[in-house]
Amino acid sequence: MDLSLLLLFGLSCILLSNGIKVEDCDHLTDNTSFQSFQVLVPAEQPYRTAYHFQPPQNWLNDPNGPMYYEGIYHLFYQYNPHGALFGDSMLWAHSASYDLVNWFSLDHALIPSEPFDINSCWSGSVTILPGNKPVILYTGIDANNNQVQNLATPKNLSDPLLIEWIKYSGNPLMTPPDGVEGDNFRDPTTAWQGPDKTWRVVVGSWSNNQGMAILYQSDDFVHWTKYQDPLYSSIKTGMWECPDFFPVSINSTNGVDASVKNPSVRHVMKASFNSHDYYIVGTYVTELEKFLPDTDFTGTSLDLRYDYGKFYASKTFFDSKKNRRIMWGWVNESDSTEDDIEKGWSGLQKQTDPQWLLDNPLQSVPRQIWLDKTGKQLVQWPVEEINSLRDNQVSIYGKQLESGSIFEVSGITASRADIEIMFELPELEEAEFMNSSWVDPQLICDREDASVTGTFGPFGLLALATKDLTEQTAIFFRVFTGQKGYRVLMCSDQKRSSLRNELDKTTYGAFVEIDPSQEMISLRSLIDHSIIESFGGNGKTCITTRVYPKLAVNNEAHLYAFNNGTLSVTISRLNAWSMNKARINCRGGLENTASC
Ligand SMILES: *[C@@H]1O[C@H](CO)[C@@H](O)[C@H](O)[C@H]1NC(C)=O
Ligand SMILES: *[C@@H]1O[C@H](CO)[C@@H](O)[C@H](O)[C@H]1NC(C)=O
Ligand SMILES: *[C@@H]1O[C@H](CO)[C@@H](O)[C@H](O)[C@H]1NC(C)=O
Ligand SMILES: *[C@@H]1O[C@H](CO)[C@@H](O)[C@H](O)[C@H]1NC(C)=O
Ligand SMILES: *[C@@H]1O[C@H](CO)[C@@H](O)[C@H](O)[C@H]1NC(C)=O
Ligand SMILES: *[C@@H]1O[C@H](CO)[C@@H](O)[C@H](O)[C@H]1NC(C)=O
Repeated sequence: MDLSLLLLFGLSCILLSNGIKVEDCDHLTDNTSFQSFQVLVPAEQPYRTAYHFQPPQNWLNDPNGPMYYEGIYHLFYQYNPHGALFGDSMLWAHSASYDLVNWFSLDHALIPSEPFDINSCWSGSVTILPGNKPVILYTGIDANNNQVQNLATPKNLSDPLLIEWIKYSGNPLMTPPDGVEGDNFRDPTTAWQGPDKTWRVVVGSWSNNQGMAILYQSDDFVHWTKYQDPLYSSIKTGMWECPDFFPVSINSTNGVDASVKNPSVRHVMKASFNSHDYYIVGTYVTELEKFLPDTDFTGTSLDLRYDYGKFYASKTFFDSKKNRRIMWGWVNESDSTEDDIEKGWSGLQKQTDPQWLLDNPLQSVPRQIWLDKTGKQLVQWPVEEINSLRDNQVSIYGKQLESGSIFEVSGITASRADIEIMFELPELEEAEFMNSSWVDPQLICDREDASVTGTFGPFGLLALATKDLTEQTAIFFRVFTGQKGYRVLMCSDQKRSSLRNELDKTTYGAFVEIDPSQEMISLRSLIDHSIIESFGGNGKTCITTRVYPKLAVNNEAHLYAFNNGTLSVTISRLNAWSMNKARINCRGGLENTASC
């Protein structure tokens, strides 16, 4: 859809605004996929992403109920049909895909309609029951504004698109138990079967100053009984949103179904709080109905996170097609609320204003997730299907980056790219000493941002940069020696990411648990107009950031590798690709590419 077409349609169609009904837009809606969305936005906007999952317009948050069913991947997500911000009638929007790359939107799956969800259909999960029968457990905001858990089932299991869902007439299945406030009881996980074949599910909560996963059990998936104790709770956390509890294979990148429990798996508990997704690894002891983590949350910067940038409310699912576990996370914006509203719906009257640029929230690329060989942390990597968008490869081998040097990675579309780079550090023993009082990596990255020269580092990438580097987002490393050997720090520095001031330009940082004397330091970054997802140490440390350059957009964006440390580093290998556009929630379904 180009801008002129939008204008053409726009003239005879009153565009939406918050809560106001759209009139006369019927001629815009294609039957297959677009009934659920009311208005068009122009595709040619510098901040609109090309291969990340976004709805055609408006607010999105948590990914919900991802699954693979009869040859099709499904992703539901929290969606506000009325505006560019979170709203009071959130629903489950629904998209499907054959390949995890291209997506078509379907009718909304769950819309507030009944006393048990009249004030919103909030997050939840899909469980595939025996006989390949998917069901949804979700949180309804009921008529009294309490959070309750509800069940929905597909109307027609022969329809692989699972378009219609029926809410169970006996809802709600679970209401806030004694001691739990009505607004602290939400986001049921995928359920699993214990060795006794009884179903178990956990619901996120907060009670007695502890974040927790309240455990329920059921024989028939309809009648649920709360277990006396939570599956896990911790005094070091906030209210648990979107808990996720799943087994991971030991010594293998393969995923397993939620009900697998044997000596070759360990378990992961993830909880979302304080704007981050934190996790602990441990043992699930079914006899005790307990998850026993190797270490508790600490409430400090030592806690493990899926991603050390913008990434929240994630959810995983087991992909039985390729025996892997896949995760999506919600990636928020860094822009001001006022700007969101303008961009989300003011549409036409602002389209001549260069500031009219859409930067809605989106989902990360789907990431495969597995347990690292050390057993101490998880590893993530973009699903291999994303590679199908790669085009126009550029490769560089054995290039020395002297102190203070910078070079452009040219020949690719720098605003839409995939880049993998391996750094070798020849004189590692000269790394600077790390002050043992420096424990918070994000603080170190903030204090020693990309402009501060060190010994080894900063070295890395400057993404979405102008030619004069006035705008640039630096994803870089520093290497230190310390009491316990070498320490590799990974940072994402947004301070110079945009000439616009009203943005959140927080610096992000985390350590990468690798030994640079044994392996090279690798970085992969997926750049897509206003998002950069970076994977350090082959996916051991992930940092996602949203940036909105004013000048470094589209063809004005450049990509550089740089080294601002006093010692040289070697790029032993660099591969970069332009990324083609994916077809994501286009009008007219998967086959129609004309409109997006
Ligand atoms: C939309 O529906 C019309 C009439 O029902 C049909 O002729 C047309 O082929 C459909 N378009 C698509 C893209 O399915
Ligand atoms: C169920 O879905 C299948 C496949 O789309 C379709 O052929 C069938 O007519 C549907 N059944 C009902 C009762 O709608
Ligand atoms: C995992 O691999 C390590 C090293 O190869 C081995 O010592 C260990 O027994 C393996 N663990 C399992 C559960 O297979
Ligand atoms: C969303 O973004 C804003 C602005 O950057 C930030 O303050 C907030 O913590 C973010 N929320 C989540 C859940 O990531
Ligand atoms: C370590 O950092 C602390 C706090 O910044 C500082 O007071 C101290 O002098 C530093 N120690 C060394 C050896 O640099
Ligand atoms: C490299 O260091 C110089 C001198 O400190 C600084 O002016 C420049 O901005 C730095 N480069 C980057 C990419 O930050």
